[in-house]
Amino acid sequence: MSTASLPANPDPSPGPNHVAIIMDGNGRWAKARGLPRVAGHRRGADAVRRVVRGAGELGIPVITLFAFSTENWTRPADEVSDLMGLLRHYLRSELEELRKNGARLRVIGNRDGLASDIVADIADAENMTRGNSRIDVNICINYGSRDEILRATRSLARQVAAGELDVDRIDANLFERELLTAGVPDPDLLIRTSGEQRISNFLLWQCAYSELVFVDTLWPDFGKDDLERAIAEFRRRERRYGGVGG
Ligand code: FPP
Repeated sequence: MSTASLPANPDPSPGPNHVAIIMDGNGRWAKARGLPRVAGHRRGADAVRRVVRGAGELGIPVITLFAFSTENWTRPADEVSDLMGLLRHYLRSELEELRKNGARLRVIGNRDGLASDIVADIADAENMTRGNSRIDVNICINYGSRDEILRATRSLARQVAAGELDVDRIDANLFERELLTAGVPDPDLLIRTSGEQRISNFLLWQCAYSELVFVDTLWPDFGKDDLERAIAEFRRRERRYGGVGG
């Protein structure tokens, strides 16, 4: 067959509906410049702004960013306090930028462990962006997937013990409704920056069939171009969901 008979514009494989990102490498970015770790986190927050805007421009409907894990509390107290300060600042100062991007913000994580003013800021930011519909931006704060799965399991076990739920009715759909991500589609693409190749207790249930892309770029240097490259890699993958493919 000559190339002339090929369709001029073959149907491209679909892009991801939901991109999740483990933002890693802030500390190494700072260290390489002789700066304190907080400087890396600050530049990391700039990258969050850039990437959210870029994702909107690329037409990605859902993006989820891992900002603070249940394990991050074990970091030195001043680093935890710097990170909480940055999250507080983001939730308060980013509302106009989120509005311009048509972004609806949702914070995913256990709010019990967070300072009460941050919990209030989260509620305000979620309420104020509720009407936006171009892109859903999920930020995971005090999030850990094992903890999430255990809480879901306990909740279902309590319903069974109380006679409210037949144990045989527990299936994937019912289970997902108990997760902190209830209503959020599973990520199609999971990106981790900084060359590390781990999942680190992030969306363990939800990423069962996600395509994983690991990039060497440190998070503070990550931008729209890197996102586009990761999406190009995603498009080259064949997703089989345990089947044999086409
Ligand atoms: C990992 O880098 C990054 C974090 C633990 C925090 C991520 C936080 C931000 C990007 C800034 C605040 C976020 C928002 C949403 C405003 P690391 O410190 O583990 O880096 P290292 O592995 O090089 O030490």
